[in-house]
Amino acid sequence: MKRANIRQLLTAVLLLLTGTSMVTAQDNAYTNDQNEQIIKSQQAFREKRFGIFIHWGLYSMVGQGEWVMQNQNISYQEYPKLAQAFYPANFDAAEWVRSFKQAGAKYICITTRHHDGFSLFDTDASDYNIVDATPFGRDIIGELAQECRKEGIALHFYYSTLDWGRGDYPRGRTGKGTGRGPQEDPENYFNFMKTQLTELLTKYGDVGCIWFDGHWDHDEDTVDWTRDSVYRYWHYDEIYPLIHNLQSGCLIGNNHHLDPFEGENIQIFERDVPGQNTAGWHEGGISDLPLETCQTMNRSWGYRITDNNYKSFPALIKYLVSTAGRDANLLLNVGPQPDGSLPEAALERLSQMGQWLQTNGETIYGTRATLVKPQPWGVVTHKDNKMWLHIFPDELASAQTEGKIYIPYTTDRKIKSAKVFSSSAPLKFKQYKEGIFVFLPEGVETQNIPDYIVELTFNK
Ligand code: GLC
Repeated sequence: MKRANIRQLLTAVLLLLTGTSMVTAQDNAYTNDQNEQIIKSQQAFREKRFGIFIHWGLYSMVGQGEWVMQNQNISYQEYPKLAQAFYPANFDAAEWVRSFKQAGAKYICITTRHHDGFSLFDTDASDYNIVDATPFGRDIIGELAQECRKEGIALHFYYSTLDWGRGDYPRGRTGKGTGRGPQEDPENYFNFMKTQLTELLTKYGDVGCIWFDGHWDHDEDTVDWTRDSVYRYWHYDEIYPLIHNLQSGCLIGNNHHLDPFEGENIQIFERDVPGQNTAGWHEGGISDLPLETCQTMNRSWGYRITDNNYKSFPALIKYLVSTAGRDANLLLNVGPQPDGSLPEAALERLSQMGQWLQTNGETIYGTRATLVKPQPWGVVTHKDNKMWLHIFPDELASAQTEGKIYIPYTTDRKIKSAKVFSSSAPLKFKQYKEGIFVFLPEGVETQNIPDYIVELTFNK
């Protein structure tokens, strides 16, 4: 074992044994910004632009979404009985990974433990896990990790900070009807979390990101939270360094809907592209960190038997492009069925998205969207000396552009050419000091496509 590895291991053991942080309250400015590995991971993450989110667990068997335990006030003693019958006979990690890769996704984020507290991985921290508590007995996370490694696709772990089943979890605003109890024991709970995170980061190879969720469970506490106290309440001052000590390139994201805290390496937006707040959850601004929007294909995250409200293929493409056009990745959710297979409706859309990305991926992957902000007619991505104008035909109709679109981009770079991306047909343009006009061929508004792409090439 290399010395660096020994040091990492000792640090982890120390953290686990003492439950204390090496970062004190005074210097609670834990940051990993300068860590070269993190900078590299952030760059790689940004380039990926499209990932698949998987919500899968015992709740999938009930078919009413991943919140069923809380929504139906299911007793913490009854709910685990689902585990005794969990046998997803059609689960095939290779099949999943194949479908996601064909869809053009570059990473996968899976729920290792959701709010119901059941672990989808083999853990020594509790018997309530896929290997010890189910007749299936296979480590799903292990199988997926192995397949992802083989297929060269990054794996991220969703991890819930809240728990509706454990008595030691300090109560928040959800899960009040599950009968958990009686003894809250935060130190024990956070040590359990640290043990599990250590397992996740030492047993499954490289982890692209730990994706936390549940912070908001305490946002109605009657405590007068400062950012510093809420940071320490959730033990981020211990947990974040633990993660980076175990895997220095592992990104940390937290779905708390606030401005990022120290030590976090990506910023997450839930059901909204950065800058929009239709769901009404986002209280923070937009940071300089790599951004990610999570959204689901239908309305639910976990499998819901009555939810056939799948977004259409054009709507999904528009969402992906709108996200990339705000300099963010799209983490698109699929909720596998109780037997482990993916819903037909999801597979169909994934394959359509994959086909679209095969042709148009150049305008999405590895691009940035920092030069021109979203416009009434669509969004703009760019890379090297190319710029792509993603025109949404349904928005163009009301954008009053009279056959031309305006791009408020001031530059001393001269445009060499403008063309329709799909056909390479040349387009007329006029470049002024203040911005650019591109003249569109007639009939663009009526085309039945989600995204009409114009490519501008600059001299440099
Ligand atoms: C919300 C939901 C949670 C889901 C997550 C995905 O936080 O509470 O169930 O996993 O969104 O973004």
